[in-house]
Amino acid sequence: MKIAVLKELAEGEQRVSASPETVKKFTALGASMAVEKGAGLSASVTDADYEAEGASIGTRAAVLKDADIVLGVQGPDPKSLKGMKKGAWLVASLNPFGERARVDDYAKLGIDALAMEFMPRITRAQSMDILSSQSNLSGYKAVIEAGSHYGRAFPMMMTAAGTVSAAKCFVMGVGVAGLQAIATARRLGAQVSATDVRAATKEQIQSLGAKPIFVEDVAGIEGEGTGGYATEMSEEYQKAQAELVSKHIAKQDIVITTALIPGRPAPRLISDAQIATMRTGSVIVDLAAEQGGNVEGAVAGKVVEKHGVKIVGADNMPSSMAADSSALFSRNLYNFLSAYWDEEAKRPVLPDDDEVTIGIRLTKDGKVVNERLLG
Ligand code: NAI
Repeated sequence: MKIAVLKELAEGEQRVSASPETVKKFTALGASMAVEKGAGLSASVTDADYEAEGASIGTRAAVLKDADIVLGVQGPDPKSLKGMKKGAWLVASLNPFGERARVDDYAKLGIDALAMEFMPRITRAQSMDILSSQSNLSGYKAVIEAGSHYGRAFPMMMTAAGTVSAAKCFVMGVGVAGLQAIATARRLGAQVSATDVRAATKEQIQSLGAKPIFVEDVAGIEGEGTGGYATEMSEEYQKAQAELVSKHIAKQDIVITTALIPGRPAPRLISDAQIATMRTGSVIVDLAAEQGGNVEGAVAGKVVEKHGVKIVGADNMPSSMAADSSALFSRNLYNFLSAYWDEEAKRPVLPDDDEVTIGIRLTKDGKVVNERLLG
């Protein structure tokens, strides 16, 4: 039973899909671990660190040869997987909607592609959820980024030279990233408010010491779809939300947006006209920039200035904290594979009728099998 760990080739990707800790744990389960040379360097892990925990180091061709399972952070280019044996598993964040053609290519290679971001949101799979582990870090980093572009301080400070007032920070979208953004902004001393379409988040916002800003008295405001995710809101709701946000946003110094709807472009939450009402020097961080953006004019990976407001378009935030994000990502993969480890087969076995299998399996026996891609 051989597990290969790939070096990430995507531009800007610094993470790695196994840590020395998970190499040690997989080895203890009886797997032989093969890590591509230099795979961990950008995440502060050396080849020697892996070797010390029992891994062998080799070229991509060498690690792929005879591998039963191949681990990655982002889905690798199918061309770079030549030599992978049929029926072997590819376990990574495969971006199945964005990279749909690749999924077909994985099927052609005869491998089982398992997309970790399709992990169902069920209690037993919480520790396997890469979206949560990575979003949490993104929420933190969004606030740090905002602070670095903001020409003022976050906390109120009373000094001999006078008082500095606290920054006002508004978080839009209170999922995993939003909750961490609220907590981080609070720790830094900002005055924090937040909004979401899911009514259940109101209490969570309050419990973190922030002020909830919610649309009331509009039909269909529950906003919660399947799996704890948001649904697209009615036109009436969107109008009421825009009005509420307009009034609030004009008084904010920092805005962090994190709103996503699975399988759809990110909802537009802030228009150019609303940006124009903000104070010069304010900062907006759009964590949804890669999915189309919550903020008009946001560009992933760039800081653009509109009406004196800096708009930071996030681009793979977790990669900028590669040591921590890799450690958590690696644990997600280990938690998944070890949960399905079969003592007799000495490898993980995924039952066809299991909710996790159905959720994450994209390809099998040369075909695309995932309902979300076929429907
Ligand atoms: P997400 O990344 O899909 O979206 C971020 C947030 O944006 C969500 O809170 C969503 O409601 C909000 N949003 C969407 N449209 C909006 C709009 N128009 N205006 C304002 N906000 C909008 O969500 P994430 O972070 O993945 O979490 C969603 C839920 O799933 C949470 O309740 C979380 O606790 C739950 N969850 C459950 C897990 C499990 O049981 N295994 C694991 C991770 C999260």
